[in-house]
Amino acid sequence: MEEKSQKYIPALRYDWLTAVYDPILRLTLREFEFKNTLVKAAQVQLGHRVLDLGCGTATLTLLIKQAQPNAEVVGIDGDEKVLTLARQKVSQSGMVVALDHGMVYNLPYPDNSFDHVFSSLLFHHLSRENKLRAIGEVFRVLRPGGQLHVADWGKVENPLMRALFLLVQLLDGFSTTADNVNGLLPSFFSQVGFEDVVLVRQYMTVFGTLCLYNGRRPVQG
Ligand SMILES: C[S@@+](CC[C@H](N)C(=O)[O-])C[C@H]1O[C@@H](n2cnc3c(N)ncnc32)[C@H](O)[C@@H]1O
Repeated sequence: MEEKSQKYIPALRYDWLTAVYDPILRLTLREFEFKNTLVKAAQVQLGHRVLDLGCGTATLTLLIKQAQPNAEVVGIDGDEKVLTLARQKVSQSGMVVALDHGMVYNLPYPDNSFDHVFSSLLFHHLSRENKLRAIGEVFRVLRPGGQLHVADWGKVENPLMRALFLLVQLLDGFSTTADNVNGLLPSFFSQVGFEDVVLVRQYMTVFGTLCLYNGRRPVQG
């Protein structure tokens, strides 16, 4: 299907920028603050299986493992170049997490195989069709009662935030980011079947409004 093969958008759109992704994120967004907030809210328990969707350089993947060393943590990303950086970071950390190569709208995992799925700054890289496919895949691989934790660009609160978000749109594309800035992500989660979809927190950043969302796969149905 045409939409499925949309142009792949790497972490900062251009491959040559991938090497500076971590310092840029650290300088421009309160990266550790928002990622740690997402991790703390999730309360991952001992023995849980956790997936980090579009893990990039594995910063969030490692924060999850650090918070709950007895969880089994897996990151997946579609870009081998960013995974090379991620593997270096994982090896330097001394922690054990698995890193897989794959597309988020076609996950290589069995049904009901994770307790939590995290995703940070991924969904604005996907066309609407691929967002919905990816959310459907997350629903499939989560066990009933399992939780989704997302950090991504959301509805802007004022004209300044809207103007700042133009920078993200110029970098990552107008069509893939439009649903984010129009505040549609939570409705996509509900449409696929997630319940208790809530906005946990918002951050005003130099690039626009960053939103943290939670949702749960119903225990039944
Ligand atoms: C902006 S980066 C975010 C990385 C990381 N989650 C973070 O918060 O720093 C988006 C990541 O999504 C990955 N990505 C984009 N489209 C993807 C797809 N269809 N399947 C898998 N990964 C994808 C990119 O390679 C990139 O590493």
